[in-house]
Amino acid sequence: MIITPKVRGFICLTAHPEGSAKNVENQINYVKFKGSIDGPKKVLVLGASTGFGLASRITSAFGANAATIGVYFEKPSAEGKPGSPGWYNTAAFEKKAQEAGLYAKSINGDAFSDEVKQKTLDLIKADLGQVDLVVYSLASPRRVHPKTGVIHNSVLKPIGQTFSNKTVDFHTGKVSEVSISPANEDDIANTVAVMGGEDWAMWIDALKAENLLAPGAVTVAYSYIGPSLTEAVYRKGTIGRAKDHLEATAFTISDSLKDLGGKAYVSVNKALVTQASSAIPVIPLYISLLYKVMKEQGLHEGTIEQMDRLFRERLYTGGEVAVDEKGRIRVDDWEMRDDVQAQVATLWEQANTENLSEIGDLAGYRTDFFNLFGFEVEGVDYEKDVNEVVEVPGLV
Ligand code: NAI
Ligand code: NA
Repeated sequence: MIITPKVRGFICLTAHPEGSAKNVENQINYVKFKGSIDGPKKVLVLGASTGFGLASRITSAFGANAATIGVYFEKPSAEGKPGSPGWYNTAAFEKKAQEAGLYAKSINGDAFSDEVKQKTLDLIKADLGQVDLVVYSLASPRRVHPKTGVIHNSVLKPIGQTFSNKTVDFHTGKVSEVSISPANEDDIANTVAVMGGEDWAMWIDALKAENLLAPGAVTVAYSYIGPSLTEAVYRKGTIGRAKDHLEATAFTISDSLKDLGGKAYVSVNKALVTQASSAIPVIPLYISLLYKVMKEQGLHEGTIEQMDRLFRERLYTGGEVAVDEKGRIRVDDWEMRDDVQAQVATLWEQANTENLSEIGDLAGYRTDFFNLFGFEVEGVDYEKDVNEVVEVPGLV
């Protein structure tokens, strides 16, 4: 079929298999071009199909020649019904990995559930024996708690007071004022239950209990801080509480890995256009200004550049892992540079509907958004009839 984007607000209901494959290929080529990494050998990636998790999987496989198992929650493709982007990304990745002689298998299901955990443990046991890196990169709006059965829904709200600031509809470029009422205690608890560290710790406990972590095993989860501009709705809001919890969990997990000589890290990554971040008010305006400034200064990175730098220059240098005063790895260092933030703050004051496409990188934002779904990718013929049904070669 001929597949075109069907956009509804900040999601797109369709995805393009060839565009997604091309994105994956571009990421693989980037890592290969950078050269080999003396990195992990057997890697489990939770949230492996899009965003930072996909880029972590690509870096592990094509940078360090690692065997990878990916876990994700995606919609398979069917006759007349394109799959979700992560489905096509994984199909493309596993095809390339297997062609390169690399082990690559995956499980599609709810990573929060006991069932998917057990299935993953069994697969590691059967095929890899142990893993030496576990990447935790889930981003989800809800979690069914495996022990209580309670459904937790995360929210993106400020805490304590109503937050009002500028935001942009990135499709139309219209800049307007948005007001978000504060969260209540339940909102906070639910968001922490979904995006905090409890599930990460459950995964590591389960792997450890079955002796599936290699000596010296490392685990990493991803966090965000960002500037004072977005603080009320992000770092000091409900999602920030979840990130505080995630960051605190790294210390608990590290304690539990001491006997193995292992360690848990949180890496603070750069703000990027992903399915998760385009849903957060205010963030798209911030990102379009940030992209403009960082591209002008030659500092811009996408998910693959970020994860390549995380592996090559932080986690696997052969020496100590550089961390900040709170023990966190920082690959948001370029985003947070004083000169970058000063320029973004100035542009923020000026930004309106009339000038945004000039002073901000609205076009770059939109392209990245469509790219997430395999659209507007250079070198892909979108007029062409493509087969929407694609197999994921390593699907278990
Ligand atoms: P994403 O939406 O691109 O990826 C989420 C992944 O989780 C996908 O592979 C999806 O299939 C999987 N997933 C979601 N629910 C699942 C479930 N129930 N079971 C199994 N898999 C499930 O998100 P992104 O942006 O890559 O986020 C990953 C992490 O990075 C999150 O912790 C996020 O907060 C963090 N981060 C994101 C930044 C951004 O600007 N996008 C910046 C810094 C950190
Ligand atoms: Na991810």
